[in-house]
Amino acid sequence: MGLFSKDIKNLEDLYQHGLKDIYYAENQIVKSLPDMIENATNAELKRGLQHHLRETKEQVKRLEQVFALHGEQPSGTKCPAIDGIIKEGGDLMGEVEDKAVLNVGIIAAAQAVEHYEITRYGALIAWARDLGHREDAAILMRNLREEKAADKTLSAVAEQRLNPASARRAGRRAGAGASHPRRAKAKRRPAATRGKPAQKKKKAARHR
Ligand SMILES: [Fe+2]
Ligand SMILES: [Fe+2]
Repeated sequence: MGLFSKDIKNLEDLYQHGLKDIYYAENQIVKSLPDMIENATNAELKRGLQHHLRETKEQVKRLEQVFALHGEQPSGTKCPAIDGIIKEGGDLMGEVEDKAVLNVGIIAAAQAVEHYEITRYGALIAWARDLGHREDAAILMRNLREEKAADKTLSAVAEQRLNPASARRAGRRAGAGASHPRRAKAKRRPAATRGKPAQKKKKAARHR
């Protein structure tokens, strides 16, 4: 269906097209998540992605229920947006060598997918309600909730564990050392002397 082919005559057509679009997207996500899981080295991230892969397979089944409600066979329509987001994530995984940076990149790529899904489900639910497809809206809402939860989980993993800048801030807040090499080095020096030249320290010691 081309952008200007005028095959979409009304909101019902637009909604049906949107269902095919998200059905295609979810199936592509099922295919792409295993690569992300394989490349992720952070255990929490790996677990989160594995959990969301199981959820995504269920989401595909829920979409099939929606098609069945309309007496239709499930079918997808090629969606260049999700193809592009997935391709970008795949390219990135091939370009990052440092494992910690790769984990951060995977989170960003996975969140791009979630945000795409959130916008699509948001529109579909609104259209389903407008069209009086209340059962559809309830089913689609279950998928939307999972996408939002997945996005939240990814943010939490990035904030707490992986993003070096966030980890440094968290370490400072906790007043504890961590595994980051620069922080570990700083910790070896007593806090009171940090930032002062080594020379002055010696002088102060002699005058004590
Ligand atoms: Fe999904
Ligand atoms: Fe998702």
